[in-house]
Amino acid sequence: MTDKTKHLLRVLDLTTDECLRLLNDGFRLKRQKRSGIRQFPATGMVLGLLFEKPSTRTRVSFEAAMFTLGGNVIYMSRDALQLSRGEPIKDTARVLSRYVDCIVIRTFGQEIVEEFSQWADVPIINGLTDKHHPCQALSDIMTVMEVKGKDKDTISALKVAWIGDGNNVCHSWMELSARLGFEMRIACPEGFDPDPQILNDSISEGAKIEIVRDPAQAVKWADVINTDVWASMGQEDEAEERKKVFAPYQLNESLMKLAPKDAIVLHCLPAHRGEEITDEVIEGNNSYVWEQAENKMHLHASVLSYLLSL
Ligand code: CP
Ligand code: NVA
Repeated sequence: MTDKTKHLLRVLDLTTDECLRLLNDGFRLKRQKRSGIRQFPATGMVLGLLFEKPSTRTRVSFEAAMFTLGGNVIYMSRDALQLSRGEPIKDTARVLSRYVDCIVIRTFGQEIVEEFSQWADVPIINGLTDKHHPCQALSDIMTVMEVKGKDKDTISALKVAWIGDGNNVCHSWMELSARLGFEMRIACPEGFDPDPQILNDSISEGAKIEIVRDPAQAVKWADVINTDVWASMGQEDEAEERKKVFAPYQLNESLMKLAPKDAIVLHCLPAHRGEEITDEVIEGNNSYVWEQAENKMHLHASVLSYLLSL
């Protein structure tokens, strides 16, 4: 790997200035796309997508972003590669680096994307691991900024509630708290706290995080109310057990009655209606989940532009 190859494996890989730059560029690219301005700085470039888990939004929005920038994409499921027959990551990373200009990886262990990045000569982007989903948190905050205001002081004054599992998306939001300065109150059942190492890393980088057990305590205080599935990809065997533990953490109308009237509801999707969120709340006036899903594409275009120096 050349020293200057920049990867995005977790939010803490970015400085505050880099986060703001990615967000501002995301807004610019969104405006351009909506007003029909077409520019193709990635002409002749190729984005590889190596996915070990299913995806609707991350895959299609990265592909659409790369095509919009004028580039091409190659989608690779792990099963179709020699990786599945034991070819080492370090060999795969070096070979793929000679074919494509950037690789988005969705996989299980964070150590897999880390090892990939050590051997790749091209930028590696984490498209979700068990521990992090950096592009998700960055595109989510775009949606919040559109509603609540884009200036730095407004962002740093936000109160963000996380309701449910202390999982990958929660971890990336925690790291974003370190970079953008907003407060987070995480309401999760005992035993489902965020990873202690990531919590430590985030707090030592300046994140303001409080963990509570009562979802009402988080919701009534919040400008932004975020939730996610109770069983993430790879935890399917625990789904039934988790439904029991997480039942008091459902984002439903009675919980939303406690929230400030202008609180915004986010869910990275896919949602399990009737589990972590009800149909009424996801379809309700406080929900911005469709804008949130759209913004993934604009933020991904911005990440590609930055990492590929377009
Ligand atoms: N939010 C998100 O990452 O969705 P997908 O699993 O569909 O990519
Ligand atoms: N926490 C979820 C997010 C899906 C986008 C998962 O990892 O399955």
